[in-house]
Amino acid sequence: MRINLEGRHFLTLLDYRPEEILYLTDLAERLKKEKQDGHFPQRLKHKNIALLFEKNSTRTRCAFTVAAADEGAHPEFLGKNDIQFGTKESVADTARVLGRMFDGIQFRGFQHRTVEELAKHAGVPVWNGLTDLYHPTQILADLLTIQENKGKLKGIALAYVGDGQNNMANSLMIGAAKTGMDFRIVAPFSLFPQEELVTKARKIAAESGGRVHLTENIDEGVRNADVIYTDVWVSMGAEEMLGKRIELLRPYQVNRGMMEKTGKHDTIFMHCLPAFHDINTGTGAKVYRQYGLDSMEVSDEVFESPASKVWDEAENRMHTIKAVMLATMGGAPAGA
Ligand code: CP
Ligand code: NVA
Repeated sequence: MRINLEGRHFLTLLDYRPEEILYLTDLAERLKKEKQDGHFPQRLKHKNIALLFEKNSTRTRCAFTVAAADEGAHPEFLGKNDIQFGTKESVADTARVLGRMFDGIQFRGFQHRTVEELAKHAGVPVWNGLTDLYHPTQILADLLTIQENKGKLKGIALAYVGDGQNNMANSLMIGAAKTGMDFRIVAPFSLFPQEELVTKARKIAAESGGRVHLTENIDEGVRNADVIYTDVWVSMGAEEMLGKRIELLRPYQVNRGMMEKTGKHDTIFMHCLPAFHDINTGTGAKVYRQYGLDSMEVSDEVFESPASKVWDEAENRMHTIKAVMLATMGGAPAGA
């Protein structure tokens, strides 16, 4: 069956069927190869893309910018403090104005309902570049990276270790459930994801042949894991929780000992980035040093090891975001 995503928003993977998700990662794989071969067909010529940011970004901003430029589109960065958004103008009015001038809108920010409101009023595809609840474009890059390294998604055991309640945990849980993975959240009980979302993910996993398992127990959670994934201990906007999180999550740091607990020699390490792997070079170093830590969620040793696939993962943000833009704006190559 030919998949057609033209005109669709991309707000959460909950809205996408498994075959649509796999279509996007397959398309991204083709686009990656195409770029490596030096082929640039410029399928988004004369399109304009709005990049609306309430929170900071390196990867997502650069991925949208480069992907748009590669395809001949014009990307326009709109920082929250540069435009009337949120101060003099409502979300709905901003959406209606941007939708009259742009062919697609990326939003990164705090409340998930903001991106839903933009989508409701824009009249053009809206892409979620991260909200407090979800980070779906990141998951496409993660799926592509796992596929590249393990040759498949179905049946892959992925242990997500750390803050089990953040946007990454939520989105990975959905993406893993949709693609039939054996997904584990390894976190203190107080940081388990919301029950309602777990119930949804388990229902999805039951259909895909996957599994969603939550545990506080590190040994059990990472046993036989093909992938160990972690994220920052405090997400953007929640920085005041740092002290409490360090107390809670210190035992959950991904380090050599944890990698060995998988019992596998080929477990890979993944992280959406940015990562606090070396407090001496990370930002806010002084603050972290006061807790006597050299690194936070991942040791520098694991981060810099051959098992670490973080740079492939970061690069894949661009190819997968390009796939999302092409598919939803109607520029996807035939046969994808
Ligand atoms: N992983 C990710 O979304 O990175 P940025 O915050 O730099 O966009
Ligand atoms: N959970 C992190 C992800 C950053 C890409 C955050 O929201 O800050």
